Amino acid sequence: MIAAFAFAATPHIHFGQGSASKLPELAAAYGHNILLVTGNRSFDDSPACQRLLAQMQATLSCERYIVSGEPSPKVIDAAVQQFSGQGFDCVVAIGGGSVVDAGKAIAGLLQGQGSILDFLEGIGSAVYAGSTMPWIAMPTTAGTGSETSKNAVISDVRADGFKKSFRHASLVASHIILDPELTLSCPPEVTAACGMDALTQLLESYVSKKSNPMTEALAWSGLVRIRQALPAAFADGDDIAARSDMLYAASMSGLTLANAGLGSVHGLASPLGAFYTIPHGVVCGTMVAEACRINIDAMKAREPANPALAAYARVGRLLSQNQGLNDEQAHTALIQQLDEWIAVMAIPKLASFGVHSSEIPLIRAHISGGSMGTNPIVLSDDEIACLLRARI
Ligand SMILES: [Fe+2]
Repeated sequence: MIAAFAFAATPHIHFGQGSASKLPELAAAYGHNILLVTGNRSFDDSPACQRLLAQMQATLSCERYIVSGEPSPKVIDAAVQQFSGQGFDCVVAIGGGSVVDAGKAIAGLLQGQGSILDFLEGIGSAVYAGSTMPWIAMPTTAGTGSETSKNAVISDVRADGFKKSFRHASLVASHIILDPELTLSCPPEVTAACGMDALTQLLESYVSKKSNPMTEALAWSGLVRIRQALPAAFADGDDIAARSDMLYAASMSGLTLANAGLGSVHGLASPLGAFYTIPHGVVCGTMVAEACRINIDAMKAREPANPALAAYARVGRLLSQNQGLNDEQAHTALIQQLDEWIAVMAIPKLASFGVHSSEIPLIRAHISGGSMGTNPIVLSDDEIACLLRARI
């Protein structure tokens, strides 16, 4: 029997090459005054983004707010202070995961609800009333899937920093436009890191303790596409078919993580992203193979009947394109394929970003309980230390 589950509201999704042209009409449905949240150079250097900006400015009044790097509480509060009370009708976020998270948080607070610090999980204690203004997301990278989720990840990166979520059902975007043309200008190292994030999110949600038939179907549909599209998009950024598959897979990963949770990689990504300046996708990419190896070994030793062992084997057969493998062989094939992608795409180890083995206890003490809680098996402190040590 299918166990009880809930599936959260999803935005209205507009997918396909050329779908960006729908933006002016969709935004105009909310009014004339648009607050446009974008990246810096990534937006200015993209011909597709510049075309879109011209189309928007032809019929609408657009004020632009630039977000560079991961959104901090300071960046969000500054935008809210600058723009609240100015009669904006809609927020449009065009950019990578950080820009989409920033747009989401700004839309949530633009009506004067207070500082983002009041509402961050584990930081503030205020209850958000759910008065988010309409907002539209257009991702220009295929990675976090933030466009499909109801939480904005806000980071304060420093030695005692944090990476926390502003989360509410009303923060789900009104519309998301997924046009692969907007991802064409994404450079190879960003394509690799974002793609490994999407892959990790699909894989972790697929084997999660909280997975359900809907999230499994969506995660599988993303994994099927990532198998060919990730190496293809990395090798040739102009491969629009690969870009399209990656954008689809990344957006599905946002839905599956929001509804099934994640695992040990994202449990550790939270403190690693808070304490060190490491791109989130690099954290995921560098740890995903080792995390699978440790999960699989732990389940074989302690929980041989855990259904995640069979789930990992299915993914191993899919990624290796070898349906003839038994579960044991498929586990090996899965890890081999992930190791190969890490090598081919030159995903760096954590030490490149200043992480030292002596800091493992500190990192372990700040693990995200939410993501670690849906890992298919409870890992020991030693296993978590092994995972980190292998990738430092
Ligand atoms: Fe992620």
